[in-house]
Amino acid sequence: MKPIKVGLLGIGTVGAGTFNVLQRNQEDIRRRAGRGIEITMVAARNLEKARGIVGAGVEVVGDPFAVVDHPDIDIVVELIGGYELPHALVLKAIANGKHVVTANKALLALHGNEIFAAAQEKGVMVAFEAAVAGGVPIIKALREGLTANRIESVAGIINGTTNFILSEMREKGLDFATALQQAQELGYAEADPTFDIEGVDAAHKLTIMSAIAFGIPVQFDKAYIEGISQLQARDISYAEQLGYRIKLLGITRRTHTESGEGIELRVHPTLIPAGRLIANVEGAMNAVLVQADAVGASLYYGKGAGSEPTASAVIADLVDVTRLATVDPYCRVPHLAFQPNEMTDVAIVPMAEITTSYYLRVYVKDQLGVMADLTRILADAGISIDAVLQKEPGDQVNLDIILLTHQTREKNIIAAIEKIEKLPAVIGKVTRIRLETLA
Ligand code: NDP
Ligand code: HSE
Repeated sequence: MKPIKVGLLGIGTVGAGTFNVLQRNQEDIRRRAGRGIEITMVAARNLEKARGIVGAGVEVVGDPFAVVDHPDIDIVVELIGGYELPHALVLKAIANGKHVVTANKALLALHGNEIFAAAQEKGVMVAFEAAVAGGVPIIKALREGLTANRIESVAGIINGTTNFILSEMREKGLDFATALQQAQELGYAEADPTFDIEGVDAAHKLTIMSAIAFGIPVQFDKAYIEGISQLQARDISYAEQLGYRIKLLGITRRTHTESGEGIELRVHPTLIPAGRLIANVEGAMNAVLVQADAVGASLYYGKGAGSEPTASAVIADLVDVTRLATVDPYCRVPHLAFQPNEMTDVAIVPMAEITTSYYLRVYVKDQLGVMADLTRILADAGISIDAVLQKEPGDQVNLDIILLTHQTREKNIIAAIEKIEKLPAVIGKVTRIRLETLA
């Protein structure tokens, strides 16, 4: 059988990794796919650099639409990143009847519903394993491996850059800016690293997993997002003293609120008991913990970013698409796991309605009665305390009081924090970090 022809859009960190791994393992990949997979065209901005990677024999062009419109190309691999240009390119590729592979979670989190509908209509595949957790085959696991289950929750460390920064800060005492720079040099960070550190990239990935896990549309605009830029080294240290690690966690789960069934969709720094496997995921590694009714808990772990780990997922998609290219479109695995006409509209619950535990750090003047005031406010709000720690942050005058609470609704803790901040002994804002036992 003739090799399937692939056009690559972008040959940066992931694009170059894809080209190199495909070259290196081409014989095994051909034996698995049933036919060869050949990159015959590449679009890049820096043509000389691109030619340096692919050598002679591969056409390098400056206009990515030349690839998307080329009649010989069967699969378009979008590895440019961003929103607008990839949106136009992917829709054009679909309209031209080409299958698409992309690592672009931003694109799918924002435009996934439109893109999957267009692909369905045209009978082509859009594959996106690399968009979530880099080389970890979590899309395959959620969409196919766990297909017998009712999935209850998905919680994961799904941004390599922030996990790398938190690990470097905790283990080596590096400052935030130095750790971020290292993550950028290692090729983990997004072109705009604020997407990583402010939790947006993790929210993109979580949004995609939520749709697949629960059979709901992709709804990035409803995600609650809080990054790690406000996190202080002393909170990382206090958490450790209390037996916890702080991780940027994406959590999506079925829940019940006063108004009925809903889905939580949230990304924020989270205290996790230090003994949990997921609390020990360090560096750019990713891990996703899935709770499902039949299988129970399962954990998926591996390299969440970087050139060849991500290329591994891109090529797995290329093999899938190659194997299924001639199959009746109705026999393929649906893009979001559920048949398009079987999606539900269970609402994403507002953040005020979620239930979790909390770490509160209150910076106070060292005065008699301040602890009693804090515990009274929490008790009045029906919030019970799990642990208390009192520390001198170094100024010899004031104190940090750290309280871990049991579970309560977010709106209750917000109301209690408002009252705490009005106490005369309290200085500045209360630091609040959510805590999940992941039991
Ligand atoms: P890079 O910035 O390293 O690569 C992007 C490439 O796209 C560059 O080669 C760039 O060319 C090229 N490009 C930009 N604009 C155009 C254009 N108009 N026409 C043609 N080529 C263009 O990004 P990554 O490889 O890191 O990321 C690619 C995608 O993969 C993103 O969506 C990212 O979110 C996703 N991803 C990245 C991971 C990682 O670990 N890096 C992991 C998982 C997903 P030039 O070099 O000439 O500017
Ligand atoms: N910037 C992303 C991360 C790349 O750090 O996880 C992988 O999606």
